Amino acid sequence: MATLTLSGIRKSFGATQVLHGIDLDVADGEMIVVVGASGCGKSTLLRIVAGLETPTAGSVLIDGRDVTRLEPADRDIAMVFQNYALYPHMSVFDNMAYGLRIRGMPTAEIRKRVADAAEMLEIAQLLDRKPRQLSGGQRQRVAMGRAVVREPKLFLFDEPLSNLDAKLRVQMRAEIRRLQKRLGVTSLFVTHDQVEAMTLGDRLVVMHQGRAAQVAAPMEVWGTPADTYVAGFIGSPAMNFLSAALSDGGRAASLKAGPTLPFADGPRAAADGTPLTIGIRPEHVEHRPEAADAIPLSVDLVEPLGSETVIHGHLPGGESLVARLPLAAGAIGDVLPVGLPPAEWHVFGTEGSRLPARQGVAAAASR
Ligand SMILES: Nc1ncnc2c1ncn2[C@@H]1O[C@H](COP(=O)(O)OP(=O)(O)O)[C@@H](O)[C@H]1O
Ligand SMILES: [Mg+2]
Repeated sequence: MATLTLSGIRKSFGATQVLHGIDLDVADGEMIVVVGASGCGKSTLLRIVAGLETPTAGSVLIDGRDVTRLEPADRDIAMVFQNYALYPHMSVFDNMAYGLRIRGMPTAEIRKRVADAAEMLEIAQLLDRKPRQLSGGQRQRVAMGRAVVREPKLFLFDEPLSNLDAKLRVQMRAEIRRLQKRLGVTSLFVTHDQVEAMTLGDRLVVMHQGRAAQVAAPMEVWGTPADTYVAGFIGSPAMNFLSAALSDGGRAASLKAGPTLPFADGPRAAADGTPLTIGIRPEHVEHRPEAADAIPLSVDLVEPLGSETVIHGHLPGGESLVARLPLAAGAIGDVLPVGLPPAEWHVFGTEGSRLPARQGVAAAASR
C-alpha cells in the first residue's frame, strides 16, 4: 500500500524538453491512467517513476519518501510492459520466480507466492511451459503474475495490452481492473487508447505535449473537458467544434453556421464579438424534422452501425459536423434538419480553454 506524489517533473533529452512540469498526487490503492497521443511523454514519465530515467527537475515521492535518486530495484515497484519482456528460455514458473530468487527469498515462500498468483490469474496449469508455447493473452497474464508475486508498493503499466487483438484486449482490460481492485495496489497505467483509459482509471491524466492538460475522474473529463485538446481526444466519434462569436451582452453565441443561440448556463464574461469555439458531441446532435429553428445538415457520409447511425455532413458555411443518431436516418446528399441543444454545449475561448459561465466565476470567487 502506498501513495505516489510527483512534483514539478521536467525532463529534457539534450535540447528537447519532453516533460514540462508534471504534478500529481496518487492516493493509496488508486488506479491512475495516463493517456495521450504517441510521443507526448507518457513512457518517459513512467520510466521516471520506475527509476529508469532521472528527471531534469522535480521529485518522485513514494509514501512521502523521496526516491528520485534511488535505483529501480530500491523503489519497491513492479512494471508490466507492452512486449511482456519474458525470458524465452525460462519456464513460466521461473519467469515468475526470477525476481524473487535474485532477492534471496526462501524457496518455500517463492513457491507459495507463485502458486497463489498463478491460481488468481488462472495460469496454474501453464507453469512448466515456455513463453513461446503460450498465447498472447497467457503471456500477458504471466507478465502480470511476475509483477504480482513481488507484492510491490506500485504497479506501473506501459501499454500492456497494445499487442493483443481487440477482443482479448477488452477481456484483459477487465481482468487488470479486477486484479488491481482486489489487490488494492496503487497503479499508474499508460495508454494511448481513450476507451481503455475511460474504463480502467479511477482518474485520468490527459497528457498533451509533455503537460497534464487535465487530471480528473473519467466522467468529469468527458463531461467538462478543460480545453479543446482534451475535448477532442476523449470521446468517439470526436466532439464537433463550431466557430462562433459572443453576442447579446455575453448571453449567446452567434454560430458561423447561422443561428444565434443563448447559452443554457448563463452569460460569459467577455466582450461581444469575442471569438468562441462551441463544442458539441455527436451523440448530442438531434434530428429535428418538426422544428422551425433546425439547422440544415448536408449529408456527406453515412455509417450505419446497427444500433445507431453516424452521419458525417456539413452545415451552412461549410463547417463539418458529425451526428450520432439513434435510427437509420439520411442518405448521402440528403439535407437533415438538426438541432444543437445549448444545454450540451462546451464553450471554449480563443486559447482553447473552457470558458466558464459568469455565474460559475462568481460562485468560485465567493467560496
Ligand atoms: N532516450 C531518449 N532520447 C531522446 N529522446 C527521447 C528519449 N526517450 C524519449 N524521447 C523522446 O521523448 C518524446 C516522448 O517520448 P515517450 O515518452 O516515449 O512518448 P509516449 O510514450 O507518450 O509515446 C518523444 O519525442 C521521444 O522521441
Ligand atoms: Mg510510450
